[in-house]
Amino acid sequence: KKYVKYVQCACMTAAESLTTRLPKAGETIIGHKFFVGFGGKGANQCVQSARLGAKTSLICKVGSDSFGNDYVDNLKKNGISTAFVGQTTDAATGTASIIVNSEGQNVIVIVPGANLLLNFEDLKRASDVICKAKVVVCQLEITPAVSLEALKMARASGVKTLFNPAPALADLDPQFYTYSDIFCCNETEAEILTGIPVGNLEDAEKLVIVTLGAEGCMMISGDEPIPKHVPAGKVRAVDTTGAGDSFVGALAFYLAYYPTLSMEEMIRKSNCVASVSVQALGTQSSYPYRKDLPQDLF
Ligand SMILES: Nc1ncnc2c1ncn2[C@@H]1O[C@H](COP(=O)(O)OP(=O)(O)O)[C@@H](O)[C@H]1O
Ligand SMILES: *[C@@H]1O[C@H](CO)[C@@H](O)[C@H](O)[C@H]1NC(C)=O
Repeated sequence: KKYVKYVQCACMTAAESLTTRLPKAGETIIGHKFFVGFGGKGANQCVQSARLGAKTSLICKVGSDSFGNDYVDNLKKNGISTAFVGQTTDAATGTASIIVNSEGQNVIVIVPGANLLLNFEDLKRASDVICKAKVVVCQLEITPAVSLEALKMARASGVKTLFNPAPALADLDPQFYTYSDIFCCNETEAEILTGIPVGNLEDAEKLVIVTLGAEGCMMISGDEPIPKHVPAGKVRAVDTTGAGDSFVGALAFYLAYYPTLSMEEMIRKSNCVASVSVQALGTQSSYPYRKDLPQDLF
């Protein structure tokens, strides 16, 4: 098998305006800063994996518009294969419009756009890269049925599946548990997801990871009765946006390239990578490169 890791994902252009307060309905206010960044959980995760040195390919869809063109350039600059990044004229590139006030409170509007047009045909075209990957990572920012199909294709070829149920759905199809080897979510998502038959979590070899911000993670393994806490190091956090994606991207890297490490060790190392990302501003802009990390992580 080739050391390819494939992340199937959403790509979004995030446009952020900073203001002193949030506008009321019908109101126009003046802000003091505007910037555009690259987001989407799948793409963020893929960028973090690539920066650690993973060979990655992203399967996603953007619009045939300037945001989409810029997105493809951004992926290429990060060394990610864009062979299966489709561009469509039927919808615009996904966007997140974010307004943040001086207290750090925000309002966000997400328009998924082209992300929702990624379909089974696109997966079929990419089946070679899916089936020859070491690890396949999926999230829920595209049509859930398409994410599930990607997990099934991977599983059918014996590829390890890492699923990040974000954003969380209260009525998540239980098949997502069946087809993911590792199920990794944060506390909010874990809360929304409770109600899913816990019996499914007890399947042999299944591993659930709940990220806990500054506290690191909990790992709940099918073959160990007691959940294990894996703490993160103490750092000065300046911006935790996208920390979860940095963690998932790092974990995918370790699963693909260091498969003999214990799960606990992989989680400890992934905590380390994610805790570096919270010490810089922004999302993708805060993700560390291999050369900037302690070399004992590799
Ligand atoms: N303040 C922090 N200090 C150190 N590590 C952190 C901090 N916040 C997040 N992390 C790291 O990022 C991971 C994901 O953070 P979390 O806040 O749970 O995810 P999300 O971004 O989904 O909200 C944590 O498991 C930890 O490794
Ligand atoms: C968990 O992730 C979601 C996005 O899926 C985010 O809205 C939420 O704030 C995160 N929760 C925590 C506790 O970090």
